[in-house]
Order: sequence, then C-alpha cells, then structure tokens
Amino acid sequence: MEARLANETDIAGFREEARSLLAHQVPPEEVHWQTAQNADLFADAPSTEGKAAGRHVPRAASAIVPASFLRLCEVVVLHSDPQRFALLYRLLWRLVHEPGLRNDPIDADMLAAQQLAQAVRRDLHKMKAFLRFRPVEDAEHPGSPLHVAWFEPAHHILEAAAPWFARRFAQMRWAILTPARSVRWDGEQLHYGPGADHCDAPTADAGEQLWLTYYKAIFNPARLKLAMMQKEMPRKYWANLPEAQLIAPLAAEAHERSGRMVEQPATTPERRIPLAEKEHIMLKIDEVESLEELKHATMQCRECPLGEYATQSVVGEGARHAKLMFVGEQPGNQEDLQGHPFIGPAGQLLDKALAELGIARDEVFVSNAVKHFKYELRGKRRIHKSPTQREAAACLHWLEDEIELVKPRALVALGSTAARSLMGYAVPVMSERGKWLEREDGRKVLITLHPSALLRMPPADKEEAFAAFVADLAKARKVMKA
Ligand code: URA
Repeated sequence: MEARLANETDIAGFREEARSLLAHQVPPEEVHWQTAQNADLFADAPSTEGKAAGRHVPRAASAIVPASFLRLCEVVVLHSDPQRFALLYRLLWRLVHEPGLRNDPIDADMLAAQQLAQAVRRDLHKMKAFLRFRPVEDAEHPGSPLHVAWFEPAHHILEAAAPWFARRFAQMRWAILTPARSVRWDGEQLHYGPGADHCDAPTADAGEQLWLTYYKAIFNPARLKLAMMQKEMPRKYWANLPEAQLIAPLAAEAHERSGRMVEQPATTPERRIPLAEKEHIMLKIDEVESLEELKHATMQCRECPLGEYATQSVVGEGARHAKLMFVGEQPGNQEDLQGHPFIGPAGQLLDKALAELGIARDEVFVSNAVKHFKYELRGKRRIHKSPTQREAAACLHWLEDEIELVKPRALVALGSTAARSLMGYAVPVMSERGKWLEREDGRKVLITLHPSALLRMPPADKEEAFAAFVADLAKARKVMKA
C-alpha cells in the first residue's frame, strides 16, 4: 500500500497517514512511503489514495504515544534517509503493539531513529556555525545590501533553520540558497522558494578581505587543535568559508608563533577598532569558541547603538558547564562599571533567593539578554532604560552563543526581555511565571519575574513577592540535582 506525502518534510501528512494506516491495522511491511519530490508520479494524480480520502479513520482509533516520540518524529523527518518514514511508522506500530518498547533503551529501531535525529541536529548546528553571508548590492534598496549565503545541508533542514537566522539576523535582509530550497528574509517575513545553483551565490566581496585580516588577528596559535578543528569543521564546509583558506598557512606557522608568544611580555589590548572596519566585521563574527572570545567580540559589537555608550560589554559568568543558566535583561550601572553580571541590587536579591534554595551562585551561570548597559543621563546619573526589541534582537546571537558554549540543561528567564529572547516570542510573564516552556532547541525555560521588579514594589508587598519569586525558582532546583 502506498502512503504519499506532500513533500520531504511533511510531518503533518505523515501523522495523518500513519494514524489512518494504524486505524486500518496496516502493518509496516505493507506500506510503501513516497514523497512528492520522488517523482512527477504525483504531478497528474493528486493524492486521492492514502490520506484520509480512501480510508475512513474511526475516531476511536487514535493511538496514544509518548510526546517524546512525536518530538523525535519531527526531527527525524528532516533527515535525507529515504527510509525514515518507514522507520518511524514501524516504531509507531511497535509502540502500539509492544508496550514494553517504550522502556527498552537499546531497541535497534529506536536507536536508529535517535541516530537520524542526532545527524539532523548536527547538520543544523553546522549550518548555524558555517554559513557565511556576503553582501550584494540591491538596486531596489540603495545603500542597503542583500546578504546572500550558499549552503549545502546534508538534510532537509532549511525550514527548520530559517527562523533561527531570522531572529539572529533580524535587522538585515538576507537570503540563503541551497540546492533544494531557498529562503529570503525581508526584515519581517520569511519567503521560501525553489533551490538554487552555486553560481547564483555571490563570490568574495571587499569586506571579506577585512574578515580574513580579522580572523588572522584573532587566531591564537597556542590554542590550535587541528584534529579537533577538522572534526568540528569538516572539509566539506571549507569551500564556503572564506577563512578556510587561512587554516593551512596559519596552522603551518602556529608552532613557531606560539613559541614567540610565550616569550613576549603581556601587552595591553586595544579596546576599540575603527568604525569603518567594524561594519564589515560585525556581520561575520558569528562563531565564538570560548567565553573569553565572547567578551572580546561583544566589546567591539556595534550591531545596535548601545555598545558605543556603555563602559564595556558584560557577558555571563558562573560554572563553565552549569546545569542551570539564569538570563536577565541587561547589565545595570554597577555591572557596566565593573564588568560582571548581577552584582548590583538586583543581583543581591537574586543571590538571596538562591541562598534560600541552597544553590551557590558559582554553581549556576548568570547572564543577560543584552550585553551592554542602556541608560539615559539625568544630570550626572545614569538611569536604566529598557532595551528595545531591536536592541535585544541584535544581541540575541551572543546569548545563543553563550548557551551553545555553556550547554545548560535548562534556563531561567528573569523578566520579559529575557523570556522573549529565549523563546523567540513575547511571553506574558505574569500569567506564565512558575511555568516551564520549551525552546526550539529542546531546552526548558522557567519563566519568572526580574528581581528588579521586586525591588520596585511597595514595601508592604515585598516580602510576599520575594517568597513567590523563591517559589518559582524552587522549580528549577531539581535541574541542579539531576
Ligand atoms: N539587571 C539585569 O537584568 N542584569 C544585570 O546584570 C543586572 C541587573
């Protein structure tokens, strides 16, 4: 029996077909899964077979499977393996007919599905890390180039990845071309289109030379781990990475340079680089490999105006691989002056709440959605001003880099700016506080108030508000124990 899907990632179609097949007791070995891309087969014959059209699904026949299996399906369908739908339907069939399966951690089908999911996640990660935009003049928008990137994903991940790029590069217009599909972001919406050819993508631009100069400057020969680097950045990505051409010569001289570095006295780093160069660089520093590099990169960031007025950037601090990461809004006055997050009055209140829960501050990681202090001057005083959505969106990729580096199991969003940055949409904090939401990357986010909201409350309400805040955070405590 043929089960037909509208396209390579038709998860809704798969669910509908699978439900119908299950209801009709069609065993997996009798089903032949087809996607529209496989053939002009469907061109003249829109799906009348399969789908609910030919089979009337009894309502009572819906199967109850674990939510984790449905999430697994959503990732596995993105894999390019033509057998993925057959595998998922077989698993579904077996989950319904073999109750013991859900408790079998080494079942071969389950392991195969998990491996496919893992490969898809890896592909998504590589796309985020190794895709490079190049500016192309756009006659319709003089002075505002379109940024175009070419990428060859191993799996059908473009639609899954595009919203992430839209959030990270919210303020520029860009297009990603791949052999199978393309996507364009106009600053407001994503538009999908057909696949493209490599020659449709722009070649090196003038700004690229600047990027290469910058890459050479930040290349640290003492930290070179060639095998690790090749594992993380397989050769197949090198063709589209401008800096790849530097790897061999830089690696060749690394040994000698690191010897010279050891012998040299410490130098004072230059705080800022000239603005003309920054404009090119900031679009391209999209891969930081350590928290130290993150600090360095955010110090130079001018993707929004805040960096120009702050004393310095303030990045997250705490346990390098903390299980729990707290995200606030932006550094305050004290944080800006001293360069550490949450050390002022709001930080002290957070520390007090953590202490009540028996959580040491250095066991967790504490950061902010925005890395520079935004303020307005009243006389000589710098008064906190909330960042705009644009400013938070411009800073989002630094926060995502931090999450990638620390890899917390779960996060706590302190207030609405953090919640929006972490979730990608506006979260009504008052109604959602104390609840766990789930991010696109699968991490759970506990929503609660920002401690400075407690500081602003009338004295009579403070005690109760603090107790409620601690009660919210108590829900995150079990992450620390896990
Ligand atoms: N408020 C925040 O959101 N973060 C800080 O680091 C300090 C105050």
